[in-house]
Amino acid sequence: MDENLNQDILDKLTKVCICTGVPRSTMKRVIREGADTLEKVQKVTGAGSGGCSGNRCTPKILQLLEEYKNGEWE
Ligand code: FES
Repeated sequence: MDENLNQDILDKLTKVCICTGVPRSTMKRVIREGADTLEKVQKVTGAGSGGCSGNRCTPKILQLLEEYKNGEWE
Protein backbone atom coordinates (compact mmCIF):
# COMPACT_ATOMS: atom_id res chain seq x y z
CA MET A 1 0.00 0.00 0.00
CA ASP A 2 1.36 3.43 -0.79
CA GLU A 3 2.15 5.83 1.98
CA ASN A 4 -0.64 8.33 1.21
CA LEU A 5 -3.24 5.61 1.37
CA ASN A 6 -1.88 4.41 4.70
CA GLN A 7 -2.00 7.98 5.99
CA ASP A 8 -5.58 8.43 4.76
CA ILE A 9 -6.67 5.28 6.55
CA LEU A 10 -4.91 6.31 9.75
CA ASP A 11 -6.49 9.77 9.55
CA LYS A 12 -9.95 8.23 9.25
CA LEU A 13 -9.35 5.94 12.23
CA THR A 14 -7.73 8.51 14.52
CA LYS A 15 -10.14 10.62 16.55
CA VAL A 16 -8.76 14.08 17.24
CA CYS A 17 -11.79 15.09 19.32
CA ILE A 18 -12.60 12.00 21.32
CA CYS A 19 -15.69 13.53 22.96
CA THR A 20 -17.46 14.29 19.67
CA GLY A 21 -15.79 11.59 17.58
CA VAL A 22 -14.29 13.89 14.95
CA PRO A 23 -11.50 12.11 13.08
CA ARG A 24 -8.25 13.63 11.86
CA SER A 25 -9.45 13.20 8.25
CA THR A 26 -12.30 15.66 8.91
CA MET A 27 -9.99 18.12 10.64
CA LYS A 28 -7.60 18.05 7.69
CA ARG A 29 -10.44 18.49 5.21
CA VAL A 30 -11.83 21.61 6.86
CA ILE A 31 -8.33 23.07 7.25
CA ARG A 32 -7.69 22.44 3.54
CA GLU A 33 -11.03 24.10 2.79
CA GLY A 34 -9.94 27.28 4.56
CA ALA A 35 -10.53 26.94 8.31
CA ASP A 36 -7.29 28.59 9.41
CA THR A 37 -7.91 29.19 13.10
CA LEU A 38 -8.83 27.00 16.05
CA GLU A 39 -12.20 28.75 16.35
CA LYS A 40 -13.09 28.13 12.70
CA VAL A 41 -12.14 24.45 12.89
CA GLN A 42 -14.19 24.03 16.07
CA LYS A 43 -17.19 25.84 14.60
CA VAL A 44 -17.28 23.75 11.43
CA THR A 45 -16.58 20.37 13.04
CA GLY A 46 -18.19 20.74 16.47
CA ALA A 47 -14.91 19.68 18.06
CA GLY A 48 -14.34 21.23 21.44
CA SER A 49 -18.00 21.08 22.41
CA GLY A 50 -17.75 17.76 24.21
CA GLY A 51 -17.45 16.80 27.84
CA CYS A 52 -13.86 17.98 28.24
CA SER A 53 -14.64 21.37 26.66
CA GLY A 54 -11.76 21.00 24.26
CA ASN A 55 -9.08 20.23 26.84
CA ARG A 56 -7.95 17.15 24.97
CA CYS A 57 -8.48 18.16 21.34
CA THR A 58 -7.43 21.82 21.33
CA PRO A 59 -3.66 21.13 21.39
CA LYS A 60 -4.09 18.54 18.63
CA ILE A 61 -6.05 20.95 16.41
CA LEU A 62 -3.46 23.67 16.96
CA GLN A 63 -0.77 21.19 16.01
CA LEU A 64 -2.58 20.29 12.76
CA LEU A 65 -2.98 23.99 11.89
CA GLU A 66 0.73 24.53 12.51
CA GLU A 67 1.69 21.50 10.42
CA TYR A 68 -0.48 22.69 7.54
CA LYS A 69 1.03 26.19 7.71
CA ASN A 70 4.51 24.63 7.59
CA GLY A 71 3.59 22.57 4.54
CA GLU A 72 3.98 19.24 6.33
CA TRP A 73 0.85 17.95 4.52
CA GLU A 74 -1.40 19.36 1.83
S1 FES B 1 -11.83 15.85 23.06
FE1 FES B 1 -12.75 17.47 22.00
S2 FES B 1 -14.22 18.24 23.39
FE2 FES B 1 -13.25 16.63 24.43
